[in-house]
Amino acid sequence: MIELGGGDKPLGIRVYEALSRAILSGEFGEGGRLPSSRGLAELLGVSRNTVNTAYARLEAEGFISIRPASGAFAVPGARLAEPPRRKPEKNASVGFPEKRNDIVDFKSGLPDGRFFPVSRWSRAMAAALRDAPPSAFGYGAPEGRPELRAAIAAYAMRYRATRCPPDGVLVAAGTTQAIGIIGRALFGQGRERRRIAVVEDPLTCDIKSILSGQGAKIVPVRVDAHGLDPGRIAPGIEPALIYVTPSHQFPTGVSMSVKRRIELLDYARKSGAYVVEDDYDSEFMFRGQPPPSLQGLDPERVIYVGTFSKTLSPALRTAYVIFPPGLLKAAREAKWLSDLHNPVIDQLALARFISEGWYARHIAAMKGIYRRRRIFFSSCLEVEARRAGLRLRLLGDPCGLHLAARFPGRSFTRERLARLEADGVKVYPVSAHALRPRAWADALILGYGSLDEEELGRGARILMESLRRG
Ligand SMILES: Cc1ncc(COP(=O)(O)O)c(C=O)c1O
Repeated sequence: MIELGGGDKPLGIRVYEALSRAILSGEFGEGGRLPSSRGLAELLGVSRNTVNTAYARLEAEGFISIRPASGAFAVPGARLAEPPRRKPEKNASVGFPEKRNDIVDFKSGLPDGRFFPVSRWSRAMAAALRDAPPSAFGYGAPEGRPELRAAIAAYAMRYRATRCPPDGVLVAAGTTQAIGIIGRALFGQGRERRRIAVVEDPLTCDIKSILSGQGAKIVPVRVDAHGLDPGRIAPGIEPALIYVTPSHQFPTGVSMSVKRRIELLDYARKSGAYVVEDDYDSEFMFRGQPPPSLQGLDPERVIYVGTFSKTLSPALRTAYVIFPPGLLKAAREAKWLSDLHNPVIDQLALARFISEGWYARHIAAMKGIYRRRRIFFSSCLEVEARRAGLRLRLLGDPCGLHLAARFPGRSFTRERLARLEADGVKVYPVSAHALRPRAWADALILGYGSLDEEELGRGARILMESLRRG
């Protein structure tokens, strides 16, 4: 049976597709004859010319051979066997589960997309396109556009006390890519012996996976109320790098004390390791100013990573790395191997957005919003915990888009997490990010940045009520 499908396509293509489908499914048999063009035109209600054009294309593509005075024949072998039918797997879910709108999702690290500066960003994009030189529409340099690197160097120097010339900056597709680039640059040539990555415990599991994926041997060091303690790093291990989040430890929220910072730099100098400073959200420090970067204390030993994922949007996939001069060449090569470079017009727009002052203004405005949310959410948690008769301990400094909390006496097992979700809150256990999960069984990471006050209040109430029940 020849059936015309593909309703909105041109008629000639529909006739061609119907015939090729019929040939592939063996409709005419091995080497069998196709209807005459006149007969088929009548059958399908199309002109003979349309059928002839389809036949000519089928012949050119090797589906049929046309023999003068005999007709058109399917080419032997132009038949595709049906794939074996597989039984649908039991319980196999198709795609992502439906997102429930009534659930309060405390996913951490998300800025509130409702406040993305759409109008200013559109203007920066339009201006970037309008003023871009022709070279901007070709391939770019792996390290990024000079306009953006200069804007970032000036911004980081002013707000994070980094010390670096613009040519020390490399633009990357998020911290996620930046860590991979750092790994590749450090574990590569000349440093084969060094494969150890000392990391904070707990730490975001994505970073651990990226480093392990680069072949690193992960050595965890416990974080306490003052951050990572370099005195706990096993003697004689010669790490290639020590990954830290000193401004606002993820996920516990503590900031590294000055004493520990000095000890860490001292350790790095003596052992020859690089410190990787992931400064992912310190722009939103709500009490005073964030501590100045470690990089500013030792630009030779510290690799600094900043991101636009929290201050603007993770969808931009833009972060930056400040490298010590000796590593720039290897970093540039690693970025090139990864994806050549970040999209150029986006870089030009971001450079404008920063250098015209809109970035700093946006951060200042969002800091006010997130600060109010943090205060509101902390007090909701405390009030609801008291009402439910639960013990609660909020950890870390007031900073960023998430907080960590301990619930002494409770343990966030898979069953409990499922029960909480059924009750209407999705929460994330610290233990999923810990190399010693048992030590964090009673702790949660609660993101508040993307939730408004109604959602925060409702979420805190449901969470405590559900925990009270068992
Ligand atoms: C510790 C840490 N660093 C950095 C990031 C940002 O990653 P990216 O810049 O790839 O969006 C996150 C994201 O949540 C994070 O948890």
